[in-house]
Amino acid sequence: MVNMAMGSDLKTAVRQQFDRVAANYRTSAVHAQGQDLPVMVEAAALRGGERVLDAGCGAGHTAAIFAPHVAEVVALDFTASMLRQVEVLAQERRLANITTRLGDVESLPFADATFDLVVSRYSAHHWLRPQQALCEFRRLLRPDGQVILSDVVGLDDPICDTYLNAIELLRDPSHVRNYTLEEWRTFFNTADFQTGIIFPFRICLEFEDWTERMATAEVNRAAIRALYDAAPAEVKEALHIDGKGHSLRCAVLRGILNPSSQ
Ligand SMILES: C[S@@+](CC[C@H](N)C(=O)[O-])C[C@H]1O[C@@H](n2cnc3c(N)ncnc32)[C@H](O)[C@@H]1O
Repeated sequence: MVNMAMGSDLKTAVRQQFDRVAANYRTSAVHAQGQDLPVMVEAAALRGGERVLDAGCGAGHTAAIFAPHVAEVVALDFTASMLRQVEVLAQERRLANITTRLGDVESLPFADATFDLVVSRYSAHHWLRPQQALCEFRRLLRPDGQVILSDVVGLDDPICDTYLNAIELLRDPSHVRNYTLEEWRTFFNTADFQTGIIFPFRICLEFEDWTERMATAEVNRAAIRALYDAAPAEVKEALHIDGKGHSLRCAVLRGILNPSSQ
């Protein structure tokens, strides 16, 4: 059962938002492709027998890239219509070892020490309590288990970070925060993981495609365009704002369980 005890308004907003646009995420090139996907698989150094959890799976692109290399992938999301997209994607790609599960990353419906690897991609910026999610991942992992997480990251310069999160929030009212690398380091360490950046990268977002995928209201699109125009030079440079859209700084992070917690 989905734990809605805390932050329920925001979580309801995230689920309603993704419910409306789930199919767009199955066909989205930004999600279906991406330089981070092969990097995540390679970083996992898979042996073939692993049980993998894809946390915040969306339409299942990360689950699908891992499935041919492991025994089983459980694709978990708290938006039911996303899980239906995962089923369609798994059928299209003839992947029989993906199962779906409704659940919240902050309170996962699995027994302790039942996964070898937890992966998560482009979901964590919706999480209210990333540290709680990481504690849950630690609980689920077997000794030698690891977390591989890919997401947009925040910017160290305060004004650039403010613009970044404002633009994100206008596009998607359920956006929480692009956490900075420093924040991720603290979350991982507090949850008893050793952490490191495996792969820094950027994604270029074409404004029309990016806002259509999320069905952004016209009034919010206009506000984003106004922010593009009003942004100081350092923000334009940091976000690569040009006539077509902007780009985001991202990273693939790895968390390995501290030997003392195993
Ligand atoms: C952009 S999609 C994920 C994309 C996908 N991982 C991929 O690689 O294409 C973000 C997903 O995170 C899910 N999500 C957000 N917060 C969540 C939470 N607390 N628990 C479970 N799923 C969550 C949303 O429902 C949404 O489907």
